[in-house]
Amino acid sequence: MIKNKKVEIFEGDRATNYDNFVRHFFPNYEFVMNSIPQLLKGILSSVTTPNILVVGCGTGNETKKIAAFNDEWKIDACDPSEEMIAIAKEKLAAYQNVSLHTCTVENLPTNKSYAAITLFLVLHFLSDDGEKEQLLQDIYNKLTIGGTFVLFDICGTQEELEQQYDILSHTFPYNWSREEKEMRKERILNVLNVISEDRLKFLSEKVGFTSIVKFHQSTISSAWILTKK
Ligand SMILES: C[S@@+](CC[C@H](N)C(=O)[O-])C[C@H]1O[C@@H](n2cnc3c(N)ncnc32)[C@H](O)[C@@H]1O
Repeated sequence: MIKNKKVEIFEGDRATNYDNFVRHFFPNYEFVMNSIPQLLKGILSSVTTPNILVVGCGTGNETKKIAAFNDEWKIDACDPSEEMIAIAKEKLAAYQNVSLHTCTVENLPTNKSYAAITLFLVLHFLSDDGEKEQLLQDIYNKLTIGGTFVLFDICGTQEELEQQYDILSHTFPYNWSREEKEMRKERILNVLNVISEDRLKFLSEKVGFTSIVKFHQSTISSAWILTKK
């Protein structure tokens, strides 16, 4: 496991329970995952054999959707957690168009440029003291001109998140206790580094993105397409 301040640790139960947890916590998770291949197909229609990079690929869910959709797409997927990568490796064993890397984006063992890069449910772990900006910059630098960055994350002001979380929590499984729901709310409001959409736009423009379009929102989580012009 690569451990440093910029890396949120996913190991043990957190890794093995991830696939089950994430679908309960984000009822829109499957919707976003299922939308991505079609979105990329449209956006990448003029690029022959595009390189695609999945940053913070975790257990390989978005990578599998993309890899299964078009075997001409060449995919690199990276994540610093050995345990998450081990699950992804098993899930993606049948896909010859995927290369997995146990690392963060700045340590990728390739100098490739990518027509599209995804970052799903990672940015909220990084602090807003330069780490988020650096990750966005690293992603921007790895995109080709005209390249597409697809971002999915928790986002909002404290007030928005509090109101949206209270609505979202009605959809959680019946066996989640009130304490667990409160603990998760506390994490979102006071422990994780969730930023507002205005702040996200500011950081994105600062690193060079000229276009940021939100195409989805469901309570606390949203998804955007950003373009490098
Ligand atoms: C909530 S999971 C998201 C996994 C996957 N993208 C998904 O949507 O299912 C967050 C992942 O980010 C990884 N991670 C933590 N710090 C990171 C960093 N600095 N850069 C890239 N990935 C990171 C973790 O190892 C974990 O697998």
